[in-house]
Amino acid sequence: MTFFLGNSNKVLGEKAASLANVPLGKMEIVRFGDSEVKPRVLEDVRDQDVVVFQSTSNPVNENLMELFLMVDALRRSSAKKITAVIPYFGYARQNQQHLAGEPVSAHVVSQFIETVGINELISIDLHEEQLTGFFNIPVNHLSALPLIASEIAKYLQVSSPVNPAEIAVASPDQGGVERTRKFAEGLGLTETVLIEKKRDLTHPHECQVVEVSGVVTGKTVIIPDDVIVSGGTILNAAEALMERGAKRVILAAVHADFIAGTIEKLQNSKVEKVFVTDTIKLSDKQLFPKLQVISVASLLADQLKLL
Ligand code: R5P
Repeated sequence: MTFFLGNSNKVLGEKAASLANVPLGKMEIVRFGDSEVKPRVLEDVRDQDVVVFQSTSNPVNENLMELFLMVDALRRSSAKKITAVIPYFGYARQNQQHLAGEPVSAHVVSQFIETVGINELISIDLHEEQLTGFFNIPVNHLSALPLIASEIAKYLQVSSPVNPAEIAVASPDQGGVERTRKFAEGLGLTETVLIEKKRDLTHPHECQVVEVSGVVTGKTVIIPDDVIVSGGTILNAAEALMERGAKRVILAAVHADFIAGTIEKLQNSKVEKVFVTDTIKLSDKQLFPKLQVISVASLLADQLKLL
């Protein structure tokens, strides 16, 4: 098996390949002045199993196109089986029509993935489990939430030990209820809090909290989510919990797809700590004191060993 890395998150790809003991293949990726991209396989892959590694994060369309062309190049070079590792699956949140006239973009991406010749997919914490049903190829849907839960448990021990009865796990919106329940179970907790969020579907990134169900007074509250983009969802939730008496709030998101302004909002907020993973490569400038980044390299490597 050989591992081919796209440009979106080479650091994680290299770590995962090294832990899985898979060699890195040679491929050049040329980018033209007009922004077209042209990958070229530089070694013999005939009848081999290959893995293509690419997070389809921002710039999502560029990273998707690079992935598709890498796969086409490998297929035309007679690779036997092509597995795509897409740690962060862009467009996953567009998995249904919210307003008339919209596309189902996640479905379109799944069709492209199959059409181009990907035979198997590995991804982490898709926006919703239901997305796996868009595919006719095997999908290995991994979760990094247990890794995050264990790091948070360690952090709580060291920072200021809390009695489990004083910890609550809160879902930042209706769609996160199942994720929150599993996350709480991972910490040995049963109590979950639900925040009801209302989005303005005509204004991207705008949302507000309409209801909080559950008691958080005096508690340490953890909010797990799949992704932080503008920070609107998770920070509105944090604020609503603090207004209702939460003592400490800790944020836990698998994917950090930060846009302009998110880092400042998170750092300047009253939340104590923000845990994310490295499914999306963060630049040094995107790191801030409250942030702790957990690597998913071993999670991916363990799955790759099963291929
Ligand atoms: C929403 O359903 C998702 O699970 C995330 O909570 C949301 O998309 C994150 O985006 P933002 O940080 O911009 O609110």
